[in-house]
Amino acid sequence: MLKQFVVVAKASLFSMAKIKMLPHFELCPDGAEFETKKDESICEAALRNGIKIEHACEMSCACTTCHVIVREGFDSLEDASETEEDMLDKAWGLESNSRLSCQTVPDEGDFTVELPKYTINQVSEDH
Ligand code: FES
Repeated sequence: MLKQFVVVAKASLFSMAKIKMLPHFELCPDGAEFETKKDESICEAALRNGIKIEHACEMSCACTTCHVIVREGFDSLEDASETEEDMLDKAWGLESNSRLSCQTVPDEGDFTVELPKYTINQVSEDH
């Protein structure tokens, strides 16, 4: 009984959401699947799993380089803050289910996430 409790407690402490990252030509050409830890953002979990998602403001909700599009599971996320919404308006390739990955901490569940082709940094460097 106690052993079962420990297993369940460990699982809820260390594994929260399953993220399926769709392929991105540069950052993860084959796509990836990983789990988040408790209170971990999608951006932090992606970085921990070797996906070098840009995070120019060091995850302080002051840029849009960590922009992602949540293709599955969007409705189960907590709403974006006003600051996040304001920043998202400046993101390249904004969609209705866009989020800043550094501000998005998913609970348990399955999520499919797409990295936009470009970030605003790349667009302004190239044009
Ligand atoms: S890293 Fe700048 S808002 Fe996420």
